[in-house]
Amino acid sequence: MEAKPEKTVLFLCGSLRKKSLNRQVGEYVAKLLQGKAAVRWLAYDDLPYMNQDIEFPTPAPVRRVRGEVQEADALWLFSPEYNHGIPAVLKNCLDWLSRPVAPGSTDTAIAGKLTLFSCAGGGAKARYCAADLAETLSCIRADVVETVHVQVALTRHDYTTDELVLAPAEETALQAQAWALLDRLG
Ligand SMILES: Cc1cc2nc3c(=O)[nH]c(=O)nc-3n(C[C@H](O)[C@H](O)[C@H](O)COP(=O)(O)O)c2cc1C
Repeated sequence: MEAKPEKTVLFLCGSLRKKSLNRQVGEYVAKLLQGKAAVRWLAYDDLPYMNQDIEFPTPAPVRRVRGEVQEADALWLFSPEYNHGIPAVLKNCLDWLSRPVAPGSTDTAIAGKLTLFSCAGGGAKARYCAADLAETLSCIRADVVETVHVQVALTRHDYTTDELVLAPAEETALQAQAWALLDRLG
């Protein structure tokens, strides 16, 4: 019997900094998915700002990012909130993904893509970013996995050391989210 091809999950971090605590949430999730799905991180810091004047011909970094999204079986976003919203770099990426892949086409790279997100932030646990992501992902027709989209509360320890320590309840919640994704991936 032929082995089923391994599913791939593309991770996007809404923070570009090297020691990002949200990226560390993703690294924890990557360990949960080990042996069950292949994980890759999307590099997207070379995307130009969305500008309809430069949409076509499609800029090379936009083509590459869209290709990586199209090839993946699912997307998992890990993001802080910046000033009660989605960080501009991540929103810019989502804006590019929301646009037609060719002039006159209705196809986009993200429509119908299995997607989920987890947000780590301060006292309010990045709830504004989580709410905005739910709205934006629905607007751009991503297939958002029905699950609790985990919100991690960053502590003074996390902020001062740049080393994430998840609370047991947060680990359990991330595990539930990972199982919900694997269930949808089949
Ligand atoms: C421009 C900016 C705005 C921020 N606004 C918020 C905010 O609205 N809510 C919040 O909880 N934290 C906010 N923070 C703090 C971030 O939660 C914190 O820097 C976090 O570590 C960023 O995520 P990262 O570790 O993944 O880079 C802000 C940080 C920056 C740089």
